[in-house]
Amino acid sequence: MENIKSYITTHQQRFIDELIELLKIPSVSADPAFSEDVLNTAEAVRSALEKAGCDHTEICETPGYPIVYGEKVVDPELPTVLVYGHYDVQPPDPVDLWHSPPFEPVIKETELHPEGAIFARGASDDKGQMYMHVKALEYMVANDELPCNVKFMIEGEEEVGSESLGWFLERNREKLANDVILISDTGMIAKDTPSITTGLRGLSYVEVEVTGPNRDLHSGLYGGAVANPINILSKMIASLQDENNHITIPGFYDKVQELSREERDEMAKAPFSLDAYKKALDIADVYGEAGYVTNERNSIRPTLDVNGIWGGYTGEGAKTVIASKAYAKISMRLVPHQDWEEITDLFQKHFESIAPAGVKVVVKPHHGGYPYVTPIDNDGYQAASKAYEATFGKTPIPQRSGGSIPIVSLFEKELKSKTILMGFGLDSDAIHSPNEHYGIWNYLKGIETIPYFYKYFTEIKTS
Ligand code: BES
Ligand code: MN
Ligand code: MN
Repeated sequence: MENIKSYITTHQQRFIDELIELLKIPSVSADPAFSEDVLNTAEAVRSALEKAGCDHTEICETPGYPIVYGEKVVDPELPTVLVYGHYDVQPPDPVDLWHSPPFEPVIKETELHPEGAIFARGASDDKGQMYMHVKALEYMVANDELPCNVKFMIEGEEEVGSESLGWFLERNREKLANDVILISDTGMIAKDTPSITTGLRGLSYVEVEVTGPNRDLHSGLYGGAVANPINILSKMIASLQDENNHITIPGFYDKVQELSREERDEMAKAPFSLDAYKKALDIADVYGEAGYVTNERNSIRPTLDVNGIWGGYTGEGAKTVIASKAYAKISMRLVPHQDWEEITDLFQKHFESIAPAGVKVVVKPHHGGYPYVTPIDNDGYQAASKAYEATFGKTPIPQRSGGSIPIVSLFEKELKSKTILMGFGLDSDAIHSPNEHYGIWNYLKGIETIPYFYKYFTEIKTS
């Protein structure tokens, strides 16, 4: 593996240029207006896999956006690594808050990234991180250093719930058979503090609609005499958390796995600066569930957050009106062993039950996913840990993340394999936000580290 560093030095400009080309295609899966672009991105990824050395690549049609598949079989007797990633991206909105257009990638230096970072939607989540695996494969194939078999499965609906991937898994268990699943779609603690993500939260996502009178009303003539759906919705949402920021939905915590004091003490050893955290977000204080610290609130505890709320008049100036309807989109992040379908039901029943008689409430479930936690005493984790040691000179810290990749628990169920989450992003990458970026250093460090995973995983499996 001595060659990897010099290979990267020789080819890094091309690695960056290729990623920039991929980032120019606006593969927004949530918005049908971009469907052509999403399909073009799938083809670009397929072609990249072919060029990198896959001996078979394919665009697999699904009821939704296609899944890009690629493989290189070295020897059927050897272990197989299945790489998962996604080529779709979040909508870029609000576009006017971007300092440069979201699909015209630019490289800029930042305080954290003196080597430069690529600013574009999808730079970190997940095109940049996914493409590290394509370039790591290129290196291994070109230098005859691919020690085992590899399969790629890159989907185009991760940001909208991965519905077609579930469909695809059920129908392709054989094709996707593997010894470990490798994903770079998470983050690490800091550039000098590598970490491996050992947990993801589940998700239940719902939309609510509150209807009051059958039409918008004059707020003077009717104000005070009828239920105002926006006022009511606000009250209902506010009541979902008590003064300790505990969620008030009956049964919500029933299945939550409580961590022992020892496990929590272990978690607290990970480096974390509350001051730096507050400063990075420009907030005077943090806020959350009583009895838990920040790193617990955003990983081992379930949450409920409004993601969007609308209704009534929001245009220029003032209009005196009581709207007929108010809406909100609400997400609940879940932890082991909460069941997202059960939580969605509990939410629906509770939300309907707290509505006053003067309004009608409709709860529309969107999508969801199960949480995931992996132990660290498995071959994949050990191989990943050694890989980071080789390139960072440090043992990575296991870390449970607050984000969700719902498909990971499905992988375990359908394919019976463990997933290793080797993320190289940083919290400051602004994923899902304006000005998303990915450090060039992180990008190249990922490409450097991944081949070591293959090496150590194969060694462990064949020894
Ligand atoms: N890559 C993220 C998830 C993530 C990011 C996990 C950072 C851990 C650290 C993924 O693309 C994502 O955004 N997932 C969604 C869920 C999905 C169902 C829309 C999420 O977490 O909101
Ligand atoms: Mn992602
Ligand atoms: Mn995402």
